[in-house]
Amino acid sequence: MVQTDIRSQAWTRYWASGALHSCDGSFAIEGEGAIAAFWRAAFADAPAQGHLLDLGTGNGGLMLAAARALRGWRLSGVDLSRPILPWLEAGRDGDRIQLFAETRMEQVPLPSGTIDLLTSQFGIEYADHQQVVREALRLLAPGGRLALVIHHAESVVTRVAADELRALDLLAADDGLLEATIAVLPHMAALRGGQEPGQAAHEAREAFNRAMRDASMLVDALEVADVLGQTQAGVQQMLVAVHPGNLHEALEKLAAYRDELAAASVRTREQIEAAMTREQLDGFLAGFREAMPALETSTLRQDGRLIAWAVRGARAD
Ligand SMILES: C[S@@+](CC[C@H](N)C(=O)[O-])C[C@H]1O[C@@H](n2cnc3c(N)ncnc32)[C@H](O)[C@@H]1O
Repeated sequence: MVQTDIRSQAWTRYWASGALHSCDGSFAIEGEGAIAAFWRAAFADAPAQGHLLDLGTGNGGLMLAAARALRGWRLSGVDLSRPILPWLEAGRDGDRIQLFAETRMEQVPLPSGTIDLLTSQFGIEYADHQQVVREALRLLAPGGRLALVIHHAESVVTRVAADELRALDLLAADDGLLEATIAVLPHMAALRGGQEPGQAAHEAREAFNRAMRDASMLVDALEVADVLGQTQAGVQQMLVAVHPGNLHEALEKLAAYRDELAAASVRTREQIEAAMTREQLDGFLAGFREAMPALETSTLRQDGRLIAWAVRGARAD
């Protein structure tokens, strides 16, 4: 498994963009769609007051939806990374909403038996399973409820992630498009500065062309290949525009882009690893069943496509 600080940094980087949700767009938390309907139902018959804790909250998109639906509730979120909660206005909601950043959900600094609704959307499955089940049961109040949306190993979300990871792996390979561009750019700049191309320049150009061809082949093979197409277009532009005066800047830009893709690769890889088959879900939930005999699992589907597992339960005692 990738080191905790690298995982945390990869997510901090993502949340710095201001995104509210890791699979935004058609799978929004509010409005239309299966995920929104699940959360509406989870909040529907809640009492006027209570304490919700959201595990792996990221930028707190779910806390924002809960802030609107559960007006008298206290809301807490926990995340391994350092999200920015761009929607939170100090003074308006600040006193009832609390974020535990850089905190593992396996060890939440809240007293036992104080949580009335424990939620997680594409979060709980990233944690150590045994530890997080134990922690969730410690935190839940008697009668406290559980509502989870969990990555499904066969969902469209996981399939897209698998395509994205193949694309990211190809781009980051030693002979991939990023390294090939870094190698060819100085030669192109020298050429524009009036130098004759030597053997090294020819070889670098050939390696670049090969990497471009490999990328195009993968674009054809994948269902979703946005990152490949975007990178191809971006490096082509760089090649056209580079000259001795902007070479340094172009190389710095490329290095920053490589770091960004490396972080995306960490996130995508762990998303795929976290996604659960039926058997894995049953194994994970077994830890809850004694305290929650009526635990219900289902799948969320939208436009005929499988999106995620859904889990609801309540502590019997
Ligand atoms: C896929 S994102 C989901 C974020 C948000 N719930 C959403 O629906 O968009 C997973 C989040 O879980 C966090 N995470 C991963 N492992 C964690 C852990 N052990 N404890 C707390 N947070 C964790 C990551 O930092 C990341 O922000």
